[in-house]
Amino acid sequence: MKSQEIRNQFLEFFKSKKHSIVPSAPMVIKDDPTLMFTNAGMNQFKEFFLGNGIPKNNRLTDTQKCLRVSGKHNDLEEVGMDTYHHTMFEMLGNWSFGDYFKKEAIHWAWELLTEVYGIDKNILYVSVFEGAKDENLNMDQEAYDLWKAIVPEDRIIMGNKKDNFWEMGDQGPCGPCSEIHVDIRSEEEKSKISGRELVNADHPQVVEIWNLVFMQYNRKANGSLEKLPAQHVDTGMGFERLCMVLQGVKSNYDTDVFTPLIREIETITSTTYDKNSLPTNPDGKVSVAIRVIADHLRAVSFSIADGQLPSNTGAGYVIRRILRRAIRYGFTFLNTKEPFIYKLVETLSKQMSTAFPELKAQKNLIINVIKEEEHSFLRTLDQGLVLLENVIKNTKSNTVSGEKAFELYDTFGFPIDLTALILSEQGYKLDEKGFEIELQKQKDRSRAASQISAGDWEVLLENNTEGFIGYDQLTTEVRVTQYRKVDSKKDGELYQLVFDKTPFYPEGGGQVGDKGYLEVPNGDVVYIVDTKKENNLIIHFTKNLPKQIDQPLKAVVDSKQRTRSASNHSATHLMHQGLRAILGTHVEQKGSMVHSGYLRFDFSHFAKVSNEELKAVEDFVNARIREQLPLEERRNISFDQAVKEGAMALFGEKYGDTVRTIRFGESMELCGGTHVENTGNIWHFKITSESAIAAGIRRIEAITGDAAKEYFTTQSESYNKVTSILKTKDPVKAITSLQEENTSLRKQIEVLLKDKAKNLKGDLKSEFEEINGIKFLAKKVDLDAAGIKDLSFELGGELENIVVLFGSDQNGKAILSCYISKNLVEQKKLNAGQMVRELGKYIQGGGGGQPFFATAGGKKPEGIEEALENAKKYLK
Ligand code: ALA
Repeated sequence: MKSQEIRNQFLEFFKSKKHSIVPSAPMVIKDDPTLMFTNAGMNQFKEFFLGNGIPKNNRLTDTQKCLRVSGKHNDLEEVGMDTYHHTMFEMLGNWSFGDYFKKEAIHWAWELLTEVYGIDKNILYVSVFEGAKDENLNMDQEAYDLWKAIVPEDRIIMGNKKDNFWEMGDQGPCGPCSEIHVDIRSEEEKSKISGRELVNADHPQVVEIWNLVFMQYNRKANGSLEKLPAQHVDTGMGFERLCMVLQGVKSNYDTDVFTPLIREIETITSTTYDKNSLPTNPDGKVSVAIRVIADHLRAVSFSIADGQLPSNTGAGYVIRRILRRAIRYGFTFLNTKEPFIYKLVETLSKQMSTAFPELKAQKNLIINVIKEEEHSFLRTLDQGLVLLENVIKNTKSNTVSGEKAFELYDTFGFPIDLTALILSEQGYKLDEKGFEIELQKQKDRSRAASQISAGDWEVLLENNTEGFIGYDQLTTEVRVTQYRKVDSKKDGELYQLVFDKTPFYPEGGGQVGDKGYLEVPNGDVVYIVDTKKENNLIIHFTKNLPKQIDQPLKAVVDSKQRTRSASNHSATHLMHQGLRAILGTHVEQKGSMVHSGYLRFDFSHFAKVSNEELKAVEDFVNARIREQLPLEERRNISFDQAVKEGAMALFGEKYGDTVRTIRFGESMELCGGTHVENTGNIWHFKITSESAIAAGIRRIEAITGDAAKEYFTTQSESYNKVTSILKTKDPVKAITSLQEENTSLRKQIEVLLKDKAKNLKGDLKSEFEEINGIKFLAKKVDLDAAGIKDLSFELGGELENIVVLFGSDQNGKAILSCYISKNLVEQKKLNAGQMVRELGKYIQGGGGGQPFFATAGGKKPEGIEEALENAKKYLK
């Protein structure tokens, strides 16, 4: 069965059990500070488990793109070494939100595996939670009994908290789980040792394929468990592992999910993948490298398609490190010194685009970004090799210190495993402990910088929040429903407040969160410094708590900032439309920041946007502003309908079933942001900069409204200053003629200086005196360093046996130079460098150069005469 079919059958099976099929959420998470990447199918449903939202159906199913490379679930270092771990993988899942529970979950899983997919019951094992005394948790008897009715008891394994109590992270919904494991070893191997012994023992062919989690608890910040308001089911099946079982192969990499990529890597790099080789075998490294590259290519491509480009911070840095790991494996083990990974994107896109159309739509961008990253990291590797050579040269013992290795790693991005490898090849050791210490220190530093500790929520009113009402109101009376204290190294101590309804716009869709204040009945005012959305809750940040927190409070949004943000947001839509009209429809939004002060827009485009094009975009937007297009807003239109009507949806964004559309004339976008009532309110649109931020991604910054007004006022003021200084009505003409005059004067000065030097040379020739058979001249001249050098060399060309010393005072800086004919340098061992060094003390300076010509600079021009006098003594 092809992987495509396996995926479909899963979804169809649960559809037949009344589940709605939903799309995968983006892999990069934007609204949950506790998670960077989706690491499980349930992430996008967290709000439903916590009771902060209601799903459209209480049974859902999907295949979710997951990435396990940071935080609690991190498999990065295993990837490539074994045959069944991945950075990016697909998790097939089915969910019940307060609907069916253990019985159905277990029965359906069994039915799908054994009857639909036809997996032999005799190769399956299941596990059940054994309980945990320290948490006061009992054994999961219910699950045990359910399994006992369908599988022989010797196939049921009891598991501890680590294996059979699933938690997404340090906080959040969790519960006991039952895993299903397969044993795909040969009969011969099975006869030697029972599969039962190998469950959860890291055997590559006795692996977990499906995890059925019974969500019952919420792990709180203080570590305690609290019962969830309802019971849920959350399951996750490793798609690639399932393919391995159903396709009768022994490794995920031998399934059709990976083989096309592996064939392509073999072809491009002229290597051979040996599926039986082990990483411990020296030849096995080639196959490890091929697995690493095939795996990492997927992770990086899907991230870029979801809008996360490699970068130097946060999620972007994780992606960059994954790609660099792939490049480095190619470099060392496949001997690839030129970019090649980007060439695999074509194959990946062909293979996966049916299920994930974003890969096809973003193909060119993915290719460009990966290629550029490969180029630059290969350069880093080259430079790093040179640096490492130096380190080795300067190492006295046979061990290179952890600090040095860390510097290479941290400052130059040179991978530590490569350092270790090269050192061992050259008979050196690496102080690995020292390196680990440095690494830990750095981790502690960055953790300390980013750490946010959040307390548990204090609930004042049970959750019945109306959510955001700020499209229509900027002031309203609210009640605080819950609050908590958070502490971050960056912002210090803050409070987070949730209201029963709010006029405050939470940061989202690029638009910053609203600011404003709360008025307390006793007259106090508490400022709201930011508003954000987390897991579907709108959170208001304050520096202190309102004293009468349980009373109705007046919430007031800062309307000036809101108006300016709205103006910038609407202009962003018009600009997006303009860019597509002028540059082409390949332009896609890649990032957006709408601030009250200005707007920033990142988009895919492969060349610099020319001044003419920028002007055309400005004109386009300003024409729409002049047309005074009214805002046509629709709330609660179905996603499909909106897209059908031409609204643009962005990859990497999570949309609900119903969406909001914003239309100004021909511009229509899915958007939750705040906008002007009429494009006329934007007043004017002005682009202030255009730049590149990554391969194939451009950035435009622009201003509107008040900011544009201010911009033009400042411009006009400087213009007035210029015209008054130049005393002209036509400054362009005046400046051009000044520049021309300047150029011609410069030329004249050059000629005059040359003449002057020539005359000087003539005069000087008669001023030489003889000392011990040497022609000597020491003289103060009014020339700069270059002039002195020319003059010295010209004299040297015309006269023999000379020693010439020149001193010069150039705007308070002393110059001293010495020229000595070559024959004197050779025969009499005279040395100009030594001479200026000696004489340098008179001008409070120093210098050097070659034996026949040297220069010193100093702070004391008054010492020049003395230096010149002493030169004679020195020579005598
Ligand atoms: N959330 C569960 C897991 O990721 C299904 O294993």
